[in-house]
Amino acid sequence: MDFKNSVPDRIRDLKQTIGEERAVSALSGGVDSSACTVLAHRAIGDNLKSIFIDDGLMREGEPQQVQKIFADLGIKVDIVDAADEFFAALAGKIDPEEKRKAFRDTFYSVFGREVRNSDARFLIQGTIAADILETTGGVKTQHNILEQIGIDPEAGYGFKVVEPIKDLFKPGVREVAAAVDLPEEIHQRMPFPGPGLATRVVGEVTPERVARVRRATTIVEQEILHLKPFQAFAVLLSDQATGVEEGRRKFGDIVIVRSVESQDALTAEASQVPWEVLQKIAHRIVTEIPEVVRVAYEITPKPPATIEYI
Ligand code: XMP
Repeated sequence: MDFKNSVPDRIRDLKQTIGEERAVSALSGGVDSSACTVLAHRAIGDNLKSIFIDDGLMREGEPQQVQKIFADLGIKVDIVDAADEFFAALAGKIDPEEKRKAFRDTFYSVFGREVRNSDARFLIQGTIAADILETTGGVKTQHNILEQIGIDPEAGYGFKVVEPIKDLFKPGVREVAAAVDLPEEIHQRMPFPGPGLATRVVGEVTPERVARVRRATTIVEQEILHLKPFQAFAVLLSDQATGVEEGRRKFGDIVIVRSVESQDALTAEASQVPWEVLQKIAHRIVTEIPEVVRVAYEITPKPPATIEYI
């Protein structure tokens, strides 16, 4: 199917659903929510408010980058700083599904507040087909699936959810995103999970631990992105291990480097990253992040592993 030709129909459907009401777009800067934001902006213009929730779990400089890209497209994006609320909800939580649920509840209560403050009746979000398949199939609780798992967002949070691309898989979304003039840095962007760096911190998600994985992620991206993997990132384990610094034993963190090739994220293979690239990443991580004493490259496919760590 030619997905770019579906753009006018998607815009027409959004117009019909939202009418003269106001809507909020939950923009993360990923290809899914970016495509939805442009579709919705074309459908309802100034009745759309685009909000980027800064949950403290984003990559370096991401909120400002996204704001600038959309400003260049004539779409104003409000950044809402909610990092403290997310870290408070995640504090003390170790279990992956509890962390996902804490993230999701905070995400929707922050958004519910923003939607009410904006006098909006609709929340537009970039759920795609793979999210629905994996959540209803029981692989994990994606943060953005509510109705599919029997939660009524109107009763629980006070708004209706509109999902303009929920029939598409990633390649189709990229086509739609390119067709609505999003720049390549968005439509070819690596997928980044809704719960952000929290999916890459095993154990408790604290601001300090997130800062470490954020720094390591920047290093991985700087060294690997030219190889154009489907996704590449760093993970912080909860176990620690012994290292040595200036002749003394040092107990410190372990970082996993993960780079995968995939079409639709339902299955994946580890990327064949050149040895020199991996060595450089390891060297940079242990020198630029003093808490880390070991770096490992992960080679497990999905399945049986998943791409992210929680
Ligand atoms: P897993 O870890 O299940 O991830 O192999 C499959 C793909 O989905 C992304 N991912 C998410 N995306 N909300 C999202 O929007 C989530 O809660 C979430 N969890 C995982 C992951 O990055 C990969 O591309």
